[in-house]
Amino acid sequence: MRLLVCGGAGFIGSNFVRQRLASTDDELVVLDKLTYAGRRESLRDVEENPRFSFVHAAIEDAAAVARAIAGVGAVVNFAAETHVDRSIAEPDAFVRTHSLGTYVLLEAARAHGVRYLQVSTDEVYGSIEEGSFSESSPLEPSSPYSATKAGADLLVASYHRTFGLETLIARGSNNYGPYQYPEKLIPLIVLNALHGDRLPVYGDGRNVRNWLFVEDFASAISRVLEHGVAGEIYNVGGPDEVDNLTVVQRIVELCGADQSLIEFVTDRPGHDRRYSLGSEKARALGWSAGTRFEQGIERTVAWYRDNAWWWEPIRSGAYREYYERQYGRALAD
Ligand code: NAD
Ligand code: TYD
Repeated sequence: MRLLVCGGAGFIGSNFVRQRLASTDDELVVLDKLTYAGRRESLRDVEENPRFSFVHAAIEDAAAVARAIAGVGAVVNFAAETHVDRSIAEPDAFVRTHSLGTYVLLEAARAHGVRYLQVSTDEVYGSIEEGSFSESSPLEPSSPYSATKAGADLLVASYHRTFGLETLIARGSNNYGPYQYPEKLIPLIVLNALHGDRLPVYGDGRNVRNWLFVEDFASAISRVLEHGVAGEIYNVGGPDEVDNLTVVQRIVELCGADQSLIEFVTDRPGHDRRYSLGSEKARALGWSAGTRFEQGIERTVAWYRDNAWWWEPIRSGAYREYYERQYGRALAD
């Protein structure tokens, strides 16, 4: 099959592309705008693969999408603005990419009669104190990021009900692993700890996330794409729920850094307390999350330690300015 992978130069998309090329005979066309978070470097090891090609374009660009979709059997859409803190500071690109971009892709999929998988997030459900969200839980997003992702999900569902398009939605919990941009908690803490820099923890550090190793989300997306029922939503939750402070303390140990680097800072506005997903529907497709948090975090820390070629250009570039704006102080050298 020929697949159009939108946002395939990002964190989860590049892991999906790598896994899919290794485990299938698919031809993959990656279409990506290459925002600050999208990097050809993340696809370096597959660039020479004859079954891989790259289109530099935004998903809102209808002409580019129409060219790229010709001849494909399915579209998988990872393309998004993904950082909650940036959505609070500057929501504009979130609305544009999630609303207009998803619309353009759906129209192209409809015109070509192509199966469409939207990659979504547990954050569309909002926060849950006890128990876990199911696919029919109400959507109560807290941030401009999750609200615009929820809007995109509703638009996708409407294309199934109204036009009969074969749509699928996979809602993942917090991912971590290789190639994640260091604005996100886990790589930010790993890189700061490796540099002996302070480690910012929002609020009391007791917010809980349902951590999912990125390769497990990638394999779930393949399962849903191949075996999912059109029109359905599939939650994909990680095997462990861990609070932020515990995550940070474990990373400090693995990096051989000092726990006194941990610093409690002003909380994020609208900060969701806990996410938890029930993934029975995804498991019924034969998927399971193979990687427990302890194993995944060890692999992640080792990957960042061994792959400075990937993150050094980020830490010496625009990320420094972002960090100073967001945290009110400079990154350590
Ligand atoms: P990321 O920020 O690492 O990558 C996003 C990619 O999309 C980048 O390559 C970027 O260049 C590209 N992109 C952004 N806007 C675009 C546009 N308008 N047109 C074309 N390309 C564009 O994000 P990620 O963490 O890999 O997330 C991928 C998807 O998975 C997103 O839809 C996100 O909502 C979802 N998701 C992420 C997580 C997580 O923990 N990271 C969890 C669940 C779901
Ligand atoms: P993040 O990686 O931004 O993912 P999300 O907001 O999508 O869950 O944050 C994960 C958790 O870590 C979240 O509860 C906010 C917290 N956090 C910090 O405590 N400090 C930080 O510097 C960052 C970026 C996040």
